[in-house]
Amino acid sequence: MVIAAILAGGSGSRMGNSAMPKQFLPLGSKPILLHTLEKFLLHPEVERVLVLCPHAWISFTNDLLAEYLPRGMEVTVLAGGETRNNTLQNALDYVDAHFGGGEDHILLTHDAVRPFVSHRIISENIASAREHGACDTVIPATDTIVESADGTLISSIPERKMMFQGQTPQSFRANKLRSLMAQLQADEAAILTDACKIFTMRGEAVAMVRGETHNIKITYPYDLKVAQALLGLEQEPGDD
Ligand code: CTP
Repeated sequence: MVIAAILAGGSGSRMGNSAMPKQFLPLGSKPILLHTLEKFLLHPEVERVLVLCPHAWISFTNDLLAEYLPRGMEVTVLAGGETRNNTLQNALDYVDAHFGGGEDHILLTHDAVRPFVSHRIISENIASAREHGACDTVIPATDTIVESADGTLISSIPERKMMFQGQTPQSFRANKLRSLMAQLQADEAAILTDACKIFTMRGEAVAMVRGETHNIKITYPYDLKVAQALLGLEQEPGDD
């Protein structure tokens, strides 16, 4: 089974003083989260869609779905965790409990606040996770990436053509992800911010899927303005 887990468990603190987490803010005619969910709901290979939101926002999310989701589209709302990784773990636990842990499911994980993910990116994630066990969506770095161990002095400047920026989806064979997550030591789990890193830390392959520059993550108020402009472009007739 192909399952999409939309990670919406964050509070959006960098968005500033907002009455609600950023994934619920309006973008055009509907909340950001609804744009994202629709991309997965409309993809013919995606069989189930889960959304994981802060516990206190579960009933609000269910109300939004009732208001905005077209008839016949189904989404399961679950509680997220304290960190993004905890949220991911909750998704995996749900998959095990409800879809059978033994089966080899493909799990797509996607930031709720990346509403411009494309059909192609989703298709290529499914194919790549099936083939390689894990994949990450990336774009080549356009700026030179500078590394600093102390935040003051540069420790190295890696060759730009070897640098990529990570987006989402990140997609996995659920069995493989589960067994690697179970092997994590407490200190490793505490600092781990990226699910693909679990694979690379254990020497497991992670394939790259080509992302898109407009697959932006809405993090700051500026990004919401960019998203509004991108939405305008997306809706222009005859535009790609
Ligand atoms: N996320 C999640 N569970 C968490 C934290 C984050 O599902 N405990 C999700 C967010 O809702 C978001 C995605 O992970 O869709 C990317 O994270 P980020 O942009 O950092 O979101 P926030 O944690 O909400 O933002 P901030 O760091 O500004 O508080």
